[in-house]
Amino acid sequence: MFMMLYLKEFFSFSYPSFTICSDLYEGTRMAQITDLAGIKQIIQPLEASGILVKRTDEELLKALDSFVVVEREGQIIACAALFPYFEEKCGEVAAIAVSPDCRGQGQGDKVLDYIEKKASSLGLNKLFLLTTRTADWFVRRGFSECSIDAIPEKRRKMINLSRNSKYYMKKLLPNTSGITVGKIPSN
Ligand SMILES: CC(C)(COP(=O)(O)OP(=O)(O)OC[C@H]1O[C@@H](n2cnc3c(N)ncnc32)[C@H](O)[C@@H]1OP(=O)(O)O)[C@@H](O)C(=O)NCCC(=O)NCCS
Repeated sequence: MFMMLYLKEFFSFSYPSFTICSDLYEGTRMAQITDLAGIKQIIQPLEASGILVKRTDEELLKALDSFVVVEREGQIIACAALFPYFEEKCGEVAAIAVSPDCRGQGQGDKVLDYIEKKASSLGLNKLFLLTTRTADWFVRRGFSECSIDAIPEKRRKMINLSRNSKYYMKKLLPNTSGITVGKIPSN
């Protein structure tokens, strides 16, 4: 009872997208078409250096509904995508990135936490990711290395094995808060 009252006070909702509005998630929301340039500005240098997988404009546009962004003073300063696999009740966190001048301020934590809440609200109970260089950051946030066999088959078939990525998984706590985040993306 206390928990429900606390949550009611802490979060507010805007129908129909059920966006979470609170200081904790300030500026964090589902991406819109107008965010495309801002997202590209953050991820393109990371794609060029091989940290993120290269996406064509067409692929990015198709995936836009799955992206979460953090906006500060009209600028996109962080992003991440959640790709759900409903059959396996798990989701992939991808393209998580914070603009270089905003790193180390907890923006990465904020966007990951938002993705976790969103995943739980979609009924997913696990998150997985592929990474080549950022494993430690995820391990500190509760992810553990897993075998490629733990990745949903549909996704596994698409993996570029030459990247030598490692695979990480995190179990999510069930969403008992009644909070729903963002709209349901198509897979
Ligand atoms: C990884 C990333 C999203 C973290 O975002 P952030 O907003 O800087 O992270 P936070 O402020 O929440 O956390 C900062 C902490 O993470 C650590 N950290 C940052 N990058 C790290 C990395 N690649 N590996 C391990 N730890 C890292 C920082 O040293 C800092 O540690 P501290 O709290 O002990 O000082 C950001 O550094 C980034 O955009 N990196 C490039 C893109 C990338 O690697 N994405 C993941 C692809 S799988």
